[in-house]
Amino acid sequence: MTAPPTPGRSSASTTRARTRRRPSRRTGTSARWRRARRARPRRRPRLSPRLRPRPRPRRRRSRRAKGKGPRAKEPRKTGEFKVCVCGGAGGIGQPLCLLMAMDPNVKELCVFDLNVAMVPAQGVATDLGHLEKKAAVKGYVMEVGQKPVDNLEECLTGCHLVLIPAGMPRKPGQTRDDLFKINADIAKGIVEACAKYCPDAMLGMIVNPVNSVVPAMAELYKKKGLDPMKIVGITTLDVVRANKFVVRLPAPPDRVNVPVIGGHAGTTILPLFSQDKHAKTIDAEKIPDLDKHVQDAGTDVVNAKNGKGSATLSMAYAGARLGKSVLAGLAGQRRTECAYCKSEITDLPYFAQKVVFGKEGISKVLPLGELNEYETKRLEEVKVQLKGEIESGLKYAEENSL
Ligand SMILES: NC(=O)c1ccc[n+]([C@@H]2O[C@H](COP(=O)([O-])OP(=O)(O)OC[C@H]3O[C@@H](n4cnc5c(N)ncnc54)[C@H](O)[C@@H]3O)[C@@H](O)[C@H]2O)c1
Repeated sequence: MTAPPTPGRSSASTTRARTRRRPSRRTGTSARWRRARRARPRRRPRLSPRLRPRPRPRRRRSRRAKGKGPRAKEPRKTGEFKVCVCGGAGGIGQPLCLLMAMDPNVKELCVFDLNVAMVPAQGVATDLGHLEKKAAVKGYVMEVGQKPVDNLEECLTGCHLVLIPAGMPRKPGQTRDDLFKINADIAKGIVEACAKYCPDAMLGMIVNPVNSVVPAMAELYKKKGLDPMKIVGITTLDVVRANKFVVRLPAPPDRVNVPVIGGHAGTTILPLFSQDKHAKTIDAEKIPDLDKHVQDAGTDVVNAKNGKGSATLSMAYAGARLGKSVLAGLAGQRRTECAYCKSEITDLPYFAQKVVFGKEGISKVLPLGELNEYETKRLEEVKVQLKGEIESGLKYAEENSL
């Protein structure tokens, strides 16, 4: 029996309405019902724009919710830099070459040393050339007594960074002045070649005594009409040691960043523990010992090696940290480090200070920041000692030229 038609509606429309309301039992929807729905979309009542419900923002499902793993990171664009390590077959030079060859910003690494080095520079280069890294490594040898400027054209041309651990380590009984005279002459030969073949490169001096060698070389550069700020003394080992020595704190060493200012020998080394958020929590009475520990750390290594060597591995680590920061800066990723270079932040013309490495080398020198009472007193002691060592360097530059 069929149901009586609804009053006011034709039997055809009733049938359609029923069809629309009732999907077929077998398929859930009937084709007719679906067609009817498409033909007559439901009308929404018109609302004023103010009252209209805002569209709900689409919730983005995380990659994990979609059953996918984390997105592979876009590889950062790396630099294509040429680096030379002078004295690259020595105690510091070899591990320094290893660490620089591993830097993705290094496209070409030159290992330069004398023919009397512990191992031939080409041997170090061949060895490092087998690393599965992009750097092409080449060795360059010079006979003792020859001049770098006559031998290093190919080696230095196009260099962006030259690291210089070439020189003599201090022998027992040797005065600082004796060592300075020998090493300043070695450094001068290399700096002269850099001035000729790669005047825009940054030069990182490791050769001791840094406090005098750097002013000497930077002033020689200035005399030649070049930028003295291209020459920096690598004091990063003092920062590395200060960071490590406060590590009894509940912070990993790479989270500690103690700036170390002043110079790079004995009392001229001034760690600013008050400027690191972890180190500043150390009891004030422990600071003088910690300060002394950083100053004497080089001697501790020499003693531990029974006088048969000095800090070579930690120095290479620190030199590479600075070198990588210089290259990162040149590649457009600014880095702040402490380095010993020409300065205007105190009354001394050379000082280890916080600098920012950018696309042109040193792009900014940062102010000293706040010093506590202990550090202020120590700064006066630093200045007295450092002044004399800078003067030795300035005198050398007056008497020589590139
Ligand atoms: N800045 C620091 O914190 C720090 C720390 C440790 C040592 N140093 C200094 O670094 C220098 C090197 O120390 P090392 O332990 O590696 O000594 P090393 O004797 O093992 O190596 C020095 C290398 O320089 C080479 N060399 C010497 N004269 C050269 C020249 N004219 N041209 C090219 N190469 C030359 C030598 O052949 C040798 O391979 C020394 O002056 C040392 O005092 C500095």
